[in-house]
Amino acid sequence: MHYVEGQSLSVIPPGIAENGKPHKPRLYSIASTRYGDLLDGKTVSLCVRQAEYTDPETGTVDPTKAGVCSNFLCNVQKGDTVSVAGPVGKTMLLPEDPSTDIIMVATGTGIAPFRGFLHRLFMENTVARHMYTGNAWLILGVPVTGGLLYPQELELMQENANGNLEVSFAISREMKNASGGKLYVQDILAERSADLFSKLDSGAVIYFCGLKGMMPGILEALERVATQNDVDWETKFNELKANGQWHVEVY
Ligand code: FAD
Ligand code: A2P
Repeated sequence: MHYVEGQSLSVIPPGIAENGKPHKPRLYSIASTRYGDLLDGKTVSLCVRQAEYTDPETGTVDPTKAGVCSNFLCNVQKGDTVSVAGPVGKTMLLPEDPSTDIIMVATGTGIAPFRGFLHRLFMENTVARHMYTGNAWLILGVPVTGGLLYPQELELMQENANGNLEVSFAISREMKNASGGKLYVQDILAERSADLFSKLDSGAVIYFCGLKGMMPGILEALERVATQNDVDWETKFNELKANGQWHVEVY
């Protein structure tokens, strides 16, 4: 199976659903480059959050309502067979022009496609890495420092990138925004709006991946800072989408 960075894999969990039919496939963003983490082109990496169900009344975890596919994947043993299909997805592909700046906004497992991007652009010894002359900016939202995904890799990527990769963390339960609330990815975008709009005006491509719930807050924050800077957000937003500079994959 050949895939490229930013695509997703469809996983078919074993077993039968309550309706008597086989379980439906679930999508997972591919977190490795086309060569895979073993660099032999024969593996694929995923970043899976194990979906638990907590009873809102009792506050206890109810295993009978645990997520089917994520629990299957998180408990899979070496040697087990996992049925997959794909790859799928054209939304989160890297720009063709290797001089394009990229801005990646992730919450939680939304880091997955960007891990693939950053390995391709700054780690692997390939033509793609040598050709890339743009700047990359990753804005990553996680609840606590201990929940940071791939921290050592991100450090190494920054070392390898020679100043061409910036990583901003929004550690929501430890850091505060200007109004004293939780620091979310949209607060970083708003605080750094001058850099953000200057990059976008110069043709940068922006990607969003992770929590579906982050998009309304992000759009609100961008509209607010655009208006403060006398930019008509609706026109700008339509322009970004029409130019292929705006890419969203949230779930
Ligand atoms: P499901 O079995 O589908 O259950 C969904 C939720 O309902 C769970 O939280 C479960 O606990 C709860 N639930 C189950 N039964 C009940 C009940 N009776 N009452 C109330 N609640 C109940 N996920 C990742 O972790 N990493 C990724 O990289 C990733 N990429 C994605 C990319 C795309 C394009 C899309 C669309 C989705 C992506 N997802 C990703 C989400 C993933 O596809 C699954 O939706 C997720 O893993 C949950 O699937 P599941 O089978 O574990 O849960
Ligand atoms: P919090 O849970 O503190 O409210 P994970 O998927 O690992 O839980 O991480 C998701 C991250 O996104 C957390 O830091 C979470 O913060 C944050 N988050 C939750 N809701 C939103 C939102 N509406 N906009 C932006 N970030 C959010």
